[in-house]
Amino acid sequence: MLKRLSRHKKHLPKRVLLIAALLAIYMLAVAIAVVPALLQANRLQSQARQADEALTVLLAAKEAKRKEPVYVNLPGAEPVWAIVEDYTRPDSLWTVINKDRSIPTSYIPSDLKIPNVEERQDKSTQERSVRAVIIPHLEAMFADAKAEGHNLMIGSAYRSASLQQLYFDNYVAASGLELANQYSAYPGESEHQTGLATDISTVSRQCYLEECFTSTEDGQWLASHAYTYGFILRYPKGKEAITGYQFEPWHYRYVGVELAGALQKSGLTLDEAWPYLQSALQTLKANGAI
Ligand code: DAL
Ligand code: ZN
Repeated sequence: MLKRLSRHKKHLPKRVLLIAALLAIYMLAVAIAVVPALLQANRLQSQARQADEALTVLLAAKEAKRKEPVYVNLPGAEPVWAIVEDYTRPDSLWTVINKDRSIPTSYIPSDLKIPNVEERQDKSTQERSVRAVIIPHLEAMFADAKAEGHNLMIGSAYRSASLQQLYFDNYVAASGLELANQYSAYPGESEHQTGLATDISTVSRQCYLEECFTSTEDGQWLASHAYTYGFILRYPKGKEAITGYQFEPWHYRYVGVELAGALQKSGLTLDEAWPYLQSALQTLKANGAI
């Protein structure tokens, strides 16, 4: 009995060795099968991380380009930071409308409002309105003028295309087509339809919509201060061949303080500035800003 037990004992290590060997073989097989898969997964993970990082860098570069400041460089003026808008749209503050560049007659600004300034009370709500976006600037200009003794008044502000048609037809009936074309825009070609332009006079109506407005103290104050509030004299003397209209010392158009200042310095009309605005617009588009 004792002998059998000792023989049995002698055989035990062999079995353990066998099991251990089998286990080792099994583990080796598992390792051979799994390790390459793990390595591959690791590689894929690192490739995905790299692609992710590259995409983040690319998106950051795109975003930086989109936000890159673009300037309008008018000759003789400081560069103006280009507003991020499509200037070909009638609702852009830098839209340029003239005999060559019309807007749809169906366009109606979405933010028309009556400003808190002196206006012709016999005019309709429509014609006493301007775009809300220019109201703070208009009110500041009128208030500052008043503080210096100049009682300015709006004679005509927003005009729909149909109201413009009415005006145009009346001028044609009164003076003929050729003359009407010199002082009245055809429907779709008037800045009044944008709500960004107003005809300014004085409460006294001295030289109302007449060239002699330039010799009044009120007209002179307006001519020398309007640009500091973002308004430009849209149809200046001597530029009739460019604007297509007679000198209108009463017609002011809002473009913002920066562009108004640069236009004042360069001496260009908005029509002449258009190629410079267009160039900035192209850069904004190329940058993906609009
Ligand atoms: N008087 C300007 C040109 C207009 O009719 O819009
Ligand atoms: Zn006008």
